[in-house]
Amino acid sequence: MKILVLYSTLEGQTHKIAHEISSYLQQSGHLVTCLASKELPRINFLDFSAIIIAAPIHMGRFPKPLSRVVKDHSSELAQVSTALISVSLAAASKDPAVIPGIEGWGQKFFDETGWVPSMVHNAAGALRFSKYNFIKKWVLKKIVEKETGPLDTSKDYEFTDWSALFSFIDQFVNRS
Ligand SMILES: Cc1cc2nc3c(=O)[nH]c(=O)nc-3n(C[C@H](O)[C@H](O)[C@H](O)COP(=O)(O)O)c2cc1C
Repeated sequence: MKILVLYSTLEGQTHKIAHEISSYLQQSGHLVTCLASKELPRINFLDFSAIIIAAPIHMGRFPKPLSRVVKDHSSELAQVSTALISVSLAAASKDPAVIPGIEGWGQKFFDETGWVPSMVHNAAGALRFSKYNFIKKWVLKKIVEKETGPLDTSKDYEFTDWSALFSFIDQFVNRS
């Protein structure tokens, strides 16, 4: 199957997720094109049998440049089997009460872009305190206290559940 994996990243974890998905699909014999939304060349979305879009949540929303790309291509996306991988810290929370919040970010994105994916997976992202400046560290400490409980900010953390992610990819490909 010819599959496009399109992603946006600010801190690098969604880049890693998109490339891990691509390698996983290639190992299963699929023909995969993996692109960052900012380097999107003139490609025809209708050349693909399935499209996976991976994007992180920052301050309660998906990146604006990605929203523009998705909005511009919403009519092609509506004709192909598509999945959204929503990457956030909230997805690492054990508290089911955070789920409506994650779904709300997705709904806002669908309303803004006019795109409704066939399937959605909420993947937990990463925290790289070693790379954050003072302001980001402060913002993240506040979010962390709400979503996962206190953390030692002298360390980095990866929360992504790779087996849950690949099992979602299998389900998506099997129904596409
Ligand atoms: C400045 C900043 C703001 C963030 N805001 C949120 C947020 O509002 N909700 C959330 O669940 N996660 C939030 N996160 C966590 C990110 O979604 C997580 O770190 C993710 O792995 C980032 O993906 P990326 O590395 O591809 O940019 C934020 C992270 C940063 C650095």
